[in-house]
Amino acid sequence: MQISPEIKDRFKNSKNILALTGAGISAESGVPTFRGKEGLWKQYRAEELATPQAFSRDPKLVWEWYLWRMELISTKSPNPAHFALAELERKRSDFHLITQNVDGLHKRSGSEKIIEIHGNIFRNRCTNCNRKYDSDVSKLKNSTGCPNCKSIVRPDVLWFGESYDTDLLNRAVSLAERSELLFVIGSSGAVGIPVELARIAKENGAFVIEINIDPSGYSKYADLFLQEKAGEIIPELISYFV
Ligand code: OAD
Repeated sequence: MQISPEIKDRFKNSKNILALTGAGISAESGVPTFRGKEGLWKQYRAEELATPQAFSRDPKLVWEWYLWRMELISTKSPNPAHFALAELERKRSDFHLITQNVDGLHKRSGSEKIIEIHGNIFRNRCTNCNRKYDSDVSKLKNSTGCPNCKSIVRPDVLWFGESYDTDLLNRAVSLAERSELLFVIGSSGAVGIPVELARIAKENGAFVIEINIDPSGYSKYADLFLQEKAGEIIPELISYFV
């Protein structure tokens, strides 16, 4: 891929670099995306599995689906795109990462400065006392009761119809406002708030680079659209940062 000298200069001179990632960055790790031909929402109905109403109606069914996903993700590993972003964090102290992914692969690749705006599938939250726990799949299979108050625990992920965590969202907005260079990687733009973050960054003067195998709901904000697989292009892009 030919990256122009102007773009390489931007990499050098931009401050407050931000990456916003979606399910596409984990596709090459073998984690299913949500939309597209093989997407999870083609096989499952979101409203039966990923809403508070679904959980009240049938917590066992919802837990079965999350346990299945947790087990699946546990067998997968970060790919070169995750590792390259972790390397960028080591190279540039003004780099931050916002992810919509709940798979924890960014953390497993070594990234630390991450805002997981949709939560993490490997963490649970008590529906009563709100305590958070790291998930242990084998224990969860026997009981989904809170060790503290015995109420039922739920996956600590954002479901359809729920509000974003205010603190996480405020931090994400502030990063978007300050960012001079934004990478949007592997997201369809079907969910409104993450697209808003890209709009905010763009309106505040960020140069926006999108990496996706297909155009998306973010493409209207992209100054540069790289139609490439994340795992193939991100390591090269990151190699130009010093
Ligand atoms: P989607 O499944 O909606 O979109 C995945 C995107 O990744 C698509 O635009 C693909 O073209 C792109 N893609 C696939 N493989 C790729 C690759 N190898 N390299 C680059 N791009 C690739 O996933 P998200 O946009 O993350 O929310 O979905 C957003 C949210 O919708 C999720 O966080 C989840 C879901 O409902 C909640 O659960 C709250």
